[in-house]
Amino acid sequence: MAGVQDRVIVITGAGNGLGREYALALAAAGAKVVVNDLGGSRDGTGAGSAAADAVVADITGAGGTAVANYDSVATAAGGAAIVQTALDAFGRVDGVIANAGILRDRAFHKMTAEDWDAVLQVHLYGAFHTIHAAWPHLREQQHGRIVVATSTSGIFGNFGQANYGAAKGGMIGLINTLAIEGRKANILANAVAPMAATRMTEDVAPPEVLAALDPKHVAPVVGHLCTDELTESGSVFVVGGGRVYRVAQFQSKGVTFSDVPTIDEVGRRWNEISDLDGAEVGVNPVG
Ligand SMILES: NC(=O)c1ccc[n+]([C@@H]2O[C@H](COP(=O)([O-])OP(=O)(O)OC[C@H]3O[C@@H](n4cnc5c(N)ncnc54)[C@H](O)[C@@H]3O)[C@@H](O)[C@H]2O)c1
Repeated sequence: MAGVQDRVIVITGAGNGLGREYALALAAAGAKVVVNDLGGSRDGTGAGSAAADAVVADITGAGGTAVANYDSVATAAGGAAIVQTALDAFGRVDGVIANAGILRDRAFHKMTAEDWDAVLQVHLYGAFHTIHAAWPHLREQQHGRIVVATSTSGIFGNFGQANYGAAKGGMIGLINTLAIEGRKANILANAVAPMAATRMTEDVAPPEVLAALDPKHVAPVVGHLCTDELTESGSVFVVGGGRVYRVAQFQSKGVTFSDVPTIDEVGRRWNEISDLDGAEVGVNPVG
């Protein structure tokens, strides 16, 4: 196969916004897509089938192939049912785009355990449940493509998003290890931090900024990360408004103490430890 032709790609949260664009672009390029969406509101409350059904209708109306699924990614049973929809409809699964998301923004001192749990469950646990259900099939067929939706909030932090940033940062940790464990089975896992005008961002940026951030700009990059020709794995890309770039972890030159230092000795050498001049791409020292 070439590109994404006839590949079966599961896209979670594909009833709106970015996920919808991923589904339309992949289907237009010849993939068979599972359009998953719980159909709730931005904060994760409510449910319905209309959002996923509308995207499936758009795809099939344009001559593409798609099937809807309305399960929540937030439970193991939901993740399994989403992947089962791909197996039932198309007999296989080739890729998962873990895109479903909600927001419960609040300054950390006002954040409740419920706000924390709800966001972690959809983003981080949702990615786990869906990818974990697909993983044995990807290993068995020695082919898989994983894309997770991370965020600049997970990479750099953002006021009011301790829960969301932790979940999105966790998803980068997830693909780092999936890239290592999947490599031998030709399973490639990457993350995209999108910037796009959707219901999630409609009140966080001025209209003139949002006007330049059509979610259509993000879809071709996510599509590329699903292709047969891809070799990239374990990488993070920021994508929005026509700009695409990679973000990576760096390590400073640091210092090596020949003996256990005192607290004062650590303090005296702190600039050398912390200074990123001459820093290199980070590697796992125990990997
Ligand atoms: N829009 C941006 O600029 C931006 C920036 C960074 C990250 N992201 C991430 O991109 C992804 C898509 O966001 P969007 O901007 O398109 O928002 P969106 O609200 O338009 O789409 C998210 C979709 O996920 C669905 N969803 C929510 N909970 C679900 C669940 N439990 N199970 C299944 N589906 C569920 C929603 O119904 C919705 O259709 C999210 O993970 C978001 O965090 C977006």
